[in-house]
Amino acid sequence: MARTRLGVLASGRGSNLQALIDSSREGSMDADVVVVISDVETAQALVRARKAGIEARFVGPGPKRAHLSEEAESAIIDLLDESKVDLVCLAGFMRILSPRLVRHFRWRLINIHPSLLPAFPGLRVQRKALEYGVKFSGCTVHFVDEGVDTGPIVIQAAVPVLEGDTEEKLVQRILKEEHRIYAEAVQLFGEGRLTIEGRVVRVLPERSGDAGSDEHRS
Ligand code: GRF
Repeated sequence: MARTRLGVLASGRGSNLQALIDSSREGSMDADVVVVISDVETAQALVRARKAGIEARFVGPGPKRAHLSEEAESAIIDLLDESKVDLVCLAGFMRILSPRLVRHFRWRLINIHPSLLPAFPGLRVQRKALEYGVKFSGCTVHFVDEGVDTGPIVIQAAVPVLEGDTEEKLVQRILKEEHRIYAEAVQLFGEGRLTIEGRVVRVLPERSGDAGSDEHRS
């Protein structure tokens, strides 16, 4: 089976990007990050990509606050297409994508979000979870649709909210799970095991012969 070609969009720290790069290189995920694109020229994610020898591109987002300009979106689509990506991963990308971009990569675009969706969509959600007083939070990998944090859910992981938690402690506890499930979701996608029925993602069983085969793991 061919390895999955990933394009990653990231605006900041890039720890999820790093987890994808590490999983790829350690051989636990049969996918390679082939291009990283950021709307922030100084993003740590671009530094991480360059360090790993991966094409790293800054695309100026334009004047809008939450969205990208049309030109920026066109540039991003072109870069991803030129890199022949199979799957686009949003990893802390802080811009809302237009329906045009979402449609272009329909069901080939996933996001990682640090809450158990549909609880706490949006920003600073670990703080919101603490303030709300939930006893469990976690993270979600979902396909991206035209809404914000609304697409069909691929995988979730729950973590407890503990007595005396600070926002930073909860962020770190959730992040550890993010790094694990993002690579897992990419692997399931690459194995062709995700099907979408309405808004429900079904995970097909592993095909016999896939597990542990040299071809698959190399
Ligand atoms: C993560 O918490 C992710 O779930 C959210 O943004 C954060 C990005 O962190 N979408 P990093 O840049 O991957 O370290």
